[in-house]
Amino acid sequence: MSERTAIEPELLSLLEAALEAADKSYSPYSGFKVGAALRLGDGSIVAGTNVENVSYGLTICAERAALARAVSERGPGIRVGALAVANLNDAASPPCGACRQMLAEFVEPDARVVFLLDGGPRAMRFADLLPLAFNSSTKEGR
Ligand code: THU
Repeated sequence: MSERTAIEPELLSLLEAALEAADKSYSPYSGFKVGAALRLGDGSIVAGTNVENVSYGLTICAERAALARAVSERGPGIRVGALAVANLNDAASPPCGACRQMLAEFVEPDARVVFLLDGGPRAMRFADLLPLAFNSSTKEGR
C-alpha cells in the first residue's frame, strides 16, 4: 500500500514544490506552514498553501487552496495525476480527511500521493488513502 523506498524523482520534485509553497503560508494562529502541489494531466504543477482565519473554522488547507487555484486557472475539467503535501514544521503531512474528500473529485484513483511521515517521504495510491470516498452514486458501499 504505502512505500518507504523507491519514490520516483518526479514525486520528490513535487514534494519540493509543496515545500516551496509552504513558505507562503498564512498561518499566524497555528504557526503550521503547509504546502500542496498537484501535477495535472498535462504535466503542469499547481501549488497552494494554507490560509488561516481568526475564526479558525474558516481556515483553508493547502490542498484545497491548490485545488481552488487549479480549477480557477485551468477550468473544471482538470485531472490530478499526482500530488504532494509537506510542511515546514518537521511534522507528518498526510492530507486531512476533509481534503481527501475534496481531492477525490479531481484525483485519479491510481494517482500517487507523497507526503512527509516519520521524518521522510511516504508515497501511496490515492485510493488507498481514501477508500470508499463518498460519491452520490455509491450504493451499498460499491
Ligand atoms: N492544514 C492543511 O493545510 N492541510 C491539512 O491537510 C491539515 C491541516 C492546515 C490547516 C491549519 O492552517 C494548520 O494546518 C493547522 O491545522
